[in-house]
Amino acid sequence: MHFKRILSFLFLAPLSLSQLHASEEMSQRIISGTKSDSDSWPFMVALVSKNRDVYNGQFCGASFIGERYILTAAHCVEGKEGQDLDAVIGISDLVQVDAVQHRYSVKEVYVHEGYVDVSTGNDIAILELENDVNYTAVNLADQYLRNNLSAGELLTVMGWGDQDPSRDYTQFKSELYQVTVPLVEQSLCPNIIRSEDNAFCAGFVSGGYDSCQGDSGGPIVVASAGGFEQLGIVSWGEGCAEAGNYGVYANVSHFTDWIAGKTQGLSFHQLEFVGAKTAGLYTHTFSIRNTTGQSIHTSGAVINGSSGVITANSCAELRSNESCAVTILYTVGTLDFEKVSVSLSTDHPQISSVALALSYIGTEVAGVSVSNVVRIANTNVYSSPNAWIGNSNTLQSPLLNDNEFAQMTISGLAVGSLSFDMNVSTEKNYDYLNVYTNGSLYTRFSGIESRSVGINLPRHSNTVVLEYKKDRGVAHGGDRVIISNLTHSVTGQSVRPDGNAVERSSSGSGGAINWVYLLPLGLLTLVRRRFI
Ligand code: ARG
Repeated sequence: MHFKRILSFLFLAPLSLSQLHASEEMSQRIISGTKSDSDSWPFMVALVSKNRDVYNGQFCGASFIGERYILTAAHCVEGKEGQDLDAVIGISDLVQVDAVQHRYSVKEVYVHEGYVDVSTGNDIAILELENDVNYTAVNLADQYLRNNLSAGELLTVMGWGDQDPSRDYTQFKSELYQVTVPLVEQSLCPNIIRSEDNAFCAGFVSGGYDSCQGDSGGPIVVASAGGFEQLGIVSWGEGCAEAGNYGVYANVSHFTDWIAGKTQGLSFHQLEFVGAKTAGLYTHTFSIRNTTGQSIHTSGAVINGSSGVITANSCAELRSNESCAVTILYTVGTLDFEKVSVSLSTDHPQISSVALALSYIGTEVAGVSVSNVVRIANTNVYSSPNAWIGNSNTLQSPLLNDNEFAQMTISGLAVGSLSFDMNVSTEKNYDYLNVYTNGSLYTRFSGIESRSVGINLPRHSNTVVLEYKKDRGVAHGGDRVIISNLTHSVTGQSVRPDGNAVERSSSGSGGAINWVYLLPLGLLTLVRRRFI
């Protein structure tokens, strides 16, 4: 995943892309791919952040699999909720004028319960839209098709991702590109757990052709009698198109039953961030809607996580087209991010269990020195377990001992963006300023740097957490973070003020805003580990 403007800022500041690639302007690549015909992949989906335009907000690919369901990679949507995302279905050019007519709000996100990180597999997720939509769905490969493919079989992968194979530069185009790569023998792929079949590799030993950052979540297909079948989902790679490293894809046929379970019509929030909570007792209601067409019985409801109890449960019998609810009472005591989940078993043949979770940040109301600096309408400010320090116009992290952290939470931020100037002076790669939006890590900084930061606020009401976290007591730089010029802007990014004239290279100029949006978590992982 990626945010184009961000990559430009991080990697391209000294040189513009046109300078770098003037001589290669005519070559065609996803990495060494070709431009897709506009009607070749009618099931192709662009995942776009809410509150941003399609071109700048596209961060992953996906595929339409029928009714109201979309298939993508877990790492694209982990920690996100439906309200953070839109899906643009069946377009080939991100700046085509009718793109907005193909843009749909996502209602629910279902991430594979066994997903931890890309290197251990299960990098698969389903998105559910509000209503069924009328597009051509892709056929999903089954075990039989998968088992009858041999190494060397040619597969096609497509996306709007990076077209520059180097690790230090990027090049994005608005048009969909595709590339053909051979399936790699499972036992010969160094990038996967070879004994498991939840992922496979594709590419050439010599490299050269590959998917890349920004293509994640998109489909890799194989030609079959009736057209194409989706064999995999773009997951990760060590760099892109490098010799000796292949592209890694989630093996769709391994997840047939999991996909079926998520597309039967049982609908619920798998994860809901409920914001900042001070110590006390809280209640929460999880609801489940049944549109499967049949009655479902549930049993064995259990609660996991910080001291909670189930106080009501109307889900024993859940008739079709009805909703049921499980209400819980939970205690907030710990000062940190916490999760509470409820799981139930069902008698639906394809849905053995359902797990619903809430997350929150346990915290304490900030002192006046801090809240005086955060002068943004309708917000509440919290800081704990070690309090930040407010000083005329700046916010400064406190001095910390080994393994301590200081979180500052601003809740109630309206849709728009939050910007600030930041100066970090920390031990590089050990001590961090972590920035969370609505409970999930958005970006992090380490080492010694000063820069302006812009954060997209996709929801009606957003919570941002700035967390300074130290690992050990090694003194480094100032061992602190200073934040100044905290500003909220209501500028929406879904409609560009300058119409449809979107920059086509990733040189970063010509944007609608004059400060930089920073990368969300997935990309950050890429910057650190250079491989997602
Ligand atoms: N993880 C990347 C993304 O988020 C996809 C990387 C694919 N890499 C590869 N070498 N095939 O977009």
